[in-house]
Amino acid sequence: MGNELTKLQKKILKLKKERNALILAHNYQTMDIQEIADFVGDSLELARKSAEVEGYDLVIFAGVKFMAEMSAVLTKDVPVYIPDTRSICPLAAFVDGSKLREIKKEHPGAPVVVYVNTTAETKSESDIICTSGNAPEIVEALGVEKVLFGPDSNLAEYVRRRTDVEVIDIEPRGHCYVHDQFDIAQIELLREENPDAIVIAHPECPPEVQDAADIVGSTSMMARTVANSPEKKFIIATELGLVHQIQKHNPDKIVLPAYEGAICRQMKKNTLEKILHILEDLPEENLVSVPEEMVEHVRTILERMNRAPSTLESIVAK
Ligand code: 13P
Ligand code: SF4
Repeated sequence: MGNELTKLQKKILKLKKERNALILAHNYQTMDIQEIADFVGDSLELARKSAEVEGYDLVIFAGVKFMAEMSAVLTKDVPVYIPDTRSICPLAAFVDGSKLREIKKEHPGAPVVVYVNTTAETKSESDIICTSGNAPEIVEALGVEKVLFGPDSNLAEYVRRRTDVEVIDIEPRGHCYVHDQFDIAQIELLREENPDAIVIAHPECPPEVQDAADIVGSTSMMARTVANSPEKKFIIATELGLVHQIQKHNPDKIVLPAYEGAICRQMKKNTLEKILHILEDLPEENLVSVPEEMVEHVRTILERMNRAPSTLESIVAK
């Protein structure tokens, strides 16, 4: 941790212990939240962690709502709370159940692979889930010629370039407003000014930005790459909070944001004060749940994602 904890952080840690609570946080949460979390990670790591939750009375999930829903499905009987119920990822809204049903009719038999950044309704119409940390691996492992993929069209292109599978966009306009802002001119300028820097981009960035990067990967992959690399300078194309986090954990390196304005306002709705409120009052309105009729299917497809890719061929009818 390094820093001296604030009064508020200490109060949260004390109550967390008394409540026997586990705090999970996404990499885009602010550092003050990360410092009191039991585990910080990318979506895939958080899904795996949620599936292992045992011996706790409650989970507080600091992230956006679809991630907390995923956690609630995987923790089974352990209740999951989200600090701010308005932390809703706009990318997820690009595809809903009816849009998915429509495109499925046009491509009968093609498996539906959805990004974890989707609503429970969309997941309940899909065959498997992926994250930015495993998307090409999951699509390839299905052993089919074509898949329907969404809602992020930039991630779809990332998969297309790394597999032999025909990847059909469920919604070609689907994008993350934070990552879609990066552009090639910014990257080229930064490269000119920092010729010794390694450029790392998230796969939600536009394809030309992915192409301009040396490495493309999930939020945790970015953090691991900087920590383990012998290189000293990095330009990072993802949410600004993660860039600051990586810089803080690697004080001997220079970590530059590709764009200072890349801030996910939805992730930032969660605050320490709101986490304290959950621990003090266990407000029912902050409890996360997935409609009863969807839970089983969503759990099945999340568990498929958490399984070894070599077992996935059997899930599609050939
Ligand atoms: P990761 O799965 O890489 O953490 O990304 C989640 C996300 O929402 C990126 O915008
Ligand atoms: Fe959604 Fe983009 Fe925020 Fe990630 S960064 S949670 S995809 S809006």
